[in-house]
Amino acid sequence: MAPRKIVALPGDGIGAIVLHQAIRVLDAAGFNAEYIHGDIGWEFWCKEGNPLPERTLELIREHKIALFGAITSKPNEEAKAELDHSLQGKGFIYSSPIVGLRQYFNLDICVRPCKSYKGNPLNFIRRGRNNVIEEPMVDVVIFRQNTECLYSGVEWTNPPENVYKALLSHPRFRENFGEVPVNELSVSTRIFTRKATERILTAAFEHAVKHGYRSVTVCEKPNVVRETSGLMWKLAKEMQKNRFPSIKLNNTNIDAQMMWLTKNPEDYDVIVAGNMFGDIASDGFAGLIGGLGFACSAQFSEDGIAVFEPTHGSAPKYADYSVPIVNPVAMIESACMMLDYLGETEIYSRIRKAVADVILEGKVRTYDMMKMSGRPEVIGEGAASTVQMTDAIIDRLG
Ligand code: NAI
Ligand code: MG
Repeated sequence: MAPRKIVALPGDGIGAIVLHQAIRVLDAAGFNAEYIHGDIGWEFWCKEGNPLPERTLELIREHKIALFGAITSKPNEEAKAELDHSLQGKGFIYSSPIVGLRQYFNLDICVRPCKSYKGNPLNFIRRGRNNVIEEPMVDVVIFRQNTECLYSGVEWTNPPENVYKALLSHPRFRENFGEVPVNELSVSTRIFTRKATERILTAAFEHAVKHGYRSVTVCEKPNVVRETSGLMWKLAKEMQKNRFPSIKLNNTNIDAQMMWLTKNPEDYDVIVAGNMFGDIASDGFAGLIGGLGFACSAQFSEDGIAVFEPTHGSAPKYADYSVPIVNPVAMIESACMMLDYLGETEIYSRIRKAVADVILEGKVRTYDMMKMSGRPEVIGEGAASTVQMTDAIIDRLG
């Protein structure tokens, strides 16, 4: 069979380091693929005034599947200052290529699994009855709507007259904010559409069915945010009844969910939320399973574009170590999500088992797993390097 074509987007800093290691694992496990390099990130901002060049979008459009490391973003003024001299003063404005990718391809479904590995010293522990220390095994998959909600960018400070008038037409606005001078108003809108809400819910339910989870929990706040959270909850109830009666549907409020996070995280299966609450819930759960070194994700569009990436950023302070120390597992897990998506079940299971075996055995651990702060010296102090961790996983592939 011809190899699959995967667009490899290393990006900046440790993004490039971990992506390279994930590809080593994929190769060693026998995944038949050709990786086509795509330019993305800070280097291309500085050189070309665009961190997400059109040629990269073209590659992703053509091949549809991308493995992405991480990029560096900086505030506008810093970004301008680092722009190549020949480009300065020409009106280039930096914007994050991740956000750009998401918008350009309408990657509206974000999936973030948070599953504990047995033996991971970073696993959450709690005190149970009779003072017993318990280590609940978390196995949660968060479905986050990725394009709407408070992150859609529809916002104003000192809103223009037509917007202000529209706001004034709402009795609650008149009552509570009608006396506030318009130039002292900042407004960010929380927009949910029926279509995108149905898509994220469908993806969540289908995932539950495919992977044998018993329940889907909507994590919003419909008792207060009645229109948007309310829409998601209403659609979820209809969908469960009509299409997924075998899956139990639960409803939690985001604030209460954060409280329960440490109380009973093992009780949740698939969680679905809008953009902001999904962001919060996924970071919360990721903290229980080891944090950024373990948090993987995938983003999907309606027309079949899929981007797989670790949740962490480019960690620039670790990017130039002569021996890289960062944990490659989040990136390797993201690659596993790609294998699952492609139906490469056998290779997927073998890699996941290899990772689980290495973690359970506990002989090879990156600095984060040893609870060290990151410095070049950690290698001399017993932490495994990024490459050693990857080697151990490859050795275990069998
Ligand atoms: P970060 O995720 O890059 O790093 C935060 C800290 O997490 C690191 O200092 C390190 O202690 C730890 N860490 C991250 N990845 C790790 C790994 N694989 N193994 C072990 N420890 C790890 O976030 P930060 O420092 O806030 O941002 C750095 C740059 O990355 C910024 O320019 C930011 O804009 C960008 N960023 C990019 C993202 C992306 O590409 N998806 C996401 C988040 C931030
Ligand atoms: Mg986040």
